Amino acid sequence: MAKLCNSLFLGCFLCVIHTGLPQSYYAVPIKIFAGQFNWSPELDLVPLKRNLTENGLSLASSPAGVVHFLNMLNNLQGDSGRGYYMEMLIGTPPQSLNILVDTGSSNFAVAAAPDSDITRHFISMSSTTYQSLGKAVTVKYTQGDWEGELGSEQVSIPKGPNGTITVNIAAILSSNGFFIPGVNWQGILGLAYPILAQPDSSVEPFFDSLVRQTSIPDVFSLQMCGAGIAAGSTVDRAAGSLIMGGIEPTLYKGSIWYTPIQEEWYYQVEILKLEVGDQNLNLDCKEYNSDKAIVDSGTTLLRLPKNVFAAVIDAIVQTSLIQDFPAGFWTDTKLACWPKGETPWRFFPKLSIYLRDTNASQSFRITILPQLYIQPIEDLYDTLDCYRFGISPSASGLVIGATIMEGFYVIFDRAQKRVGFAVSTCAESSGLLLSEITGPFVASDVSSDCLGGSLLRERLLWVISYSVMAICTLVLLVLLLIMALPCRCHRGSGHRAEINDESSLIRNRIK
Ligand SMILES: *[C@@H]1O[C@H](CO)[C@@H](O)[C@H](O)[C@H]1NC(C)=O
Ligand SMILES: *[C@@H]1O[C@H](CO)[C@@H](O)[C@H](O)[C@H]1NC(C)=O
Ligand SMILES: *[C@@H]1O[C@H](CO)[C@@H](O)[C@H](O)[C@H]1NC(C)=O
Repeated sequence: MAKLCNSLFLGCFLCVIHTGLPQSYYAVPIKIFAGQFNWSPELDLVPLKRNLTENGLSLASSPAGVVHFLNMLNNLQGDSGRGYYMEMLIGTPPQSLNILVDTGSSNFAVAAAPDSDITRHFISMSSTTYQSLGKAVTVKYTQGDWEGELGSEQVSIPKGPNGTITVNIAAILSSNGFFIPGVNWQGILGLAYPILAQPDSSVEPFFDSLVRQTSIPDVFSLQMCGAGIAAGSTVDRAAGSLIMGGIEPTLYKGSIWYTPIQEEWYYQVEILKLEVGDQNLNLDCKEYNSDKAIVDSGTTLLRLPKNVFAAVIDAIVQTSLIQDFPAGFWTDTKLACWPKGETPWRFFPKLSIYLRDTNASQSFRITILPQLYIQPIEDLYDTLDCYRFGISPSASGLVIGATIMEGFYVIFDRAQKRVGFAVSTCAESSGLLLSEITGPFVASDVSSDCLGGSLLRERLLWVISYSVMAICTLVLLVLLLIMALPCRCHRGSGHRAEINDESSLIRNRIK
């Protein structure tokens, strides 16, 4: 969930105004703005294209025919700035709450106490099926954190698989910077792996419970349709689909390209190369994966490790036709504005990420047009259209967030430990596709291993060293025991009781 809506709190704006000369721009600070935008709805959603098969039904590819994907179409609302959410019915009798879809964490948690930023919350006392586990839990995200109580509860998803399932739930009792003013979601659905679950990995994540209890295939896929839509609108709109249990053919065009999940904690992938326009950034490919590269629907922007970010800005500035671009634009403290109707995208290059293919000696390339990373902001002025930069620097690895995900239908194929990308049917603006996928490329010219030292690897090393220490301690204790035995032989029987005490002490220690 990192960094949601970071740019709702911009310090000030700076506008780049068209002077009339085709490629000459100058910067004029025209307004200082210290508060929050007063968002007003403006743009329409690019309608989702549905292509129904002959009998009017688009069914699951699931062998048992358990899942009707058609009923899951358009089950998401929201936008890239404040996240995509889905309605869930929680408890008995059911309480309807909107839940943020986050592939970058693993706890299912809902507001269970009033909070000034949200309009409703889960009332656990009115649910006959809520069971507290009497255990406290805290989760910290890149942005914000919350504290609550672990419990279990019955949940169903109106636009999801049939049936009610029993899941672990965290009742959020207090939080900091987690809920955002004016958001329309009241909880979070962490869709990543158990190892990230708090307080420990024994808390089975929601999707694991769903797969176990409804026998749907261990796959979900996500289409987020915010491309080209001004972030921060106050109106709810159908904005995407979370397909639980498989792949819905009407949500993508062309073929699906798969990259292996490198480690099952976040959805960690391996990035081999970055291109701005046709220009290879030419950094050591380990830089792209330091300390990890993940796919996270709960992050608004494309986040890049600092070195990579700097290289991307340099390349964009070189490639772009705009001179003297205000530095504040790249750091997301300033917006760039053009006269209404003067869309700026033709001034910017495409951006491509090369991912390792499931055939490890190949790669494929996902490309976004500038329409996805130069993002419109709700109307602020009568005569200007303003845009923000959809890429930000990161100290915690590369994050493929909504900026990229909105171009693609992304398949989280947990069963086969891979993430798939296909061109999304809703990443389109006036007939122009905003994303592309090409491949295969031979990865032989790239290092065979671009993975940086990941946190998980470090953690594994710790586990190993602790295990070694434990084994050494055990061996030592056994040795002590053996040394004690001859003593028993030499000493008289009168000492036996004492020795027995000692050995029981050792047994206790081993426990
Ligand atoms: C819908 O599917 C049919 C048959 O597969 C195809 O001929 C047609 O072009 C599709 N329409 C769109 C808009 O993709
Ligand atoms: C799911 O529920 C709906 C509504 O009751 C029903 O029409 C549909 O057949 C059910 N699907 C399955 C696979 O049971
Ligand atoms: C993997 O890619 C290499 C290089 O393109 C190719 O020679 C090989 O046949 C591929 N392997 C499989 C199993 O497709």
